[in-house]
Amino acid sequence: MYPLFFRLVFSRLDPERAHHLAVRWIRLVARVPVLRTFVAAALAPRHKELRTEALGLRLHSPFGLAAGFDKNALAIDGLAMLGFDHVEIGTVTGEPQPGNPRKRLFRLVQDRALINRMGFNNEGSAAVAARLAARTPVFRTVLGVNIGKTKVVPEEEAAADYVKSAERLAPHADYLVVNVSSPNTPGLRNLQATQALRPLLTAVREAADRAVTGRRVPLLVKIAPDLADEDVDAVADLAVELGLDGIIATNTTVAREGLGLRAAPSVTAETGGLSGAPLKERSLEVLRRLHARVGDRVTLVGVGGIEDAEDAWRRILAGATLVQGYSAFIYQGPFWARGIHKGLAARLRSSPYATLADAVGADVRKHA
Ligand SMILES: Cc1cc2nc3c(=O)[nH]c(=O)nc-3n(C[C@H](O)[C@H](O)[C@H](O)COP(=O)(O)O)c2cc1C
Repeated sequence: MYPLFFRLVFSRLDPERAHHLAVRWIRLVARVPVLRTFVAAALAPRHKELRTEALGLRLHSPFGLAAGFDKNALAIDGLAMLGFDHVEIGTVTGEPQPGNPRKRLFRLVQDRALINRMGFNNEGSAAVAARLAARTPVFRTVLGVNIGKTKVVPEEEAAADYVKSAERLAPHADYLVVNVSSPNTPGLRNLQATQALRPLLTAVREAADRAVTGRRVPLLVKIAPDLADEDVDAVADLAVELGLDGIIATNTTVAREGLGLRAAPSVTAETGGLSGAPLKERSLEVLRRLHARVGDRVTLVGVGGIEDAEDAWRRILAGATLVQGYSAFIYQGPFWARGIHKGLAARLRSSPYATLADAVGADVRKHA
């Protein structure tokens, strides 16, 4: 039903308008107690075998929604209602900012992909922190908070901007993500170089510890698929050195070549990050490489081109403890997470692994 709806309604709307409309509907349904209970029962089924422990947190399932869909923490319960067992909000920047001029989001329907150059449009860390503070959660969801640099802040002062966000947002976060991999903020990805990343992650760790006493907020870094293999290794080594809790691999790619894109050149030539199916293989490759390097010392989160349960299962076998997606949600709609949970549970049951934790990284061990 959703594919038809997508074709008849959403695909005719500007992608960003369609997004805002979808968020509005999700929020609306989640506001009506009877309705949300019914929808959650149908779409967020609980499979006992998918229970997961990661980052010191207990989750119903390893599958969640990647950053960027709910930048301002407007629809967390609605997204939990649709079956996302963790929701990563953001990217939130130190200060509010409008993002890039529109049009800045493009559909590549035939490629099951998107290109975006949103540029961290968000209400800023103070407003989002206030919204989270005022929130009374309806569903128990793990809440990730993804932070990034305000565009006008120069690269040399990036750490202070991240620290501001961390201090405000860590108290509300189950885990915190330092995003240094969006292609749409000039210079941001330079922060992935270890000489810049080490002091940045250290400063954010200290800020989170200052802001939250009594528990340790897990800290993760999100990296780009466009890093050279040696740079992926360098981030992995740094994560181990700093005792970082996790690495999220990957963000969108600036690559276009060799991905077999079918969309018109006028669309593929749009500046921005490409996400969805064409990103699948590179994201998986980066994940494998990270796992080979860090083993179980750092929790890995697999994201990029995950469309179905088989994709999610392959990420788990490659070393991901958690998996996330975004673009396929646009194309597959509200039943997407449900299908992934069902398929993952079935795969685990018919696998040689007793638990999901046993399956994590099993591929890599087999080939070692
Ligand atoms: C429209 C759009 C906006 C995004 N915004 C963010 C963001 O603000 N912060 C971030 O870390 N990732 C952002 N992402 C990247 C996703 O979180 C994810 O890493 C990427 O899309 C790959 O996953 P997918 O192929 O399942 O979409 C965005 C992606 C899209 C499509």
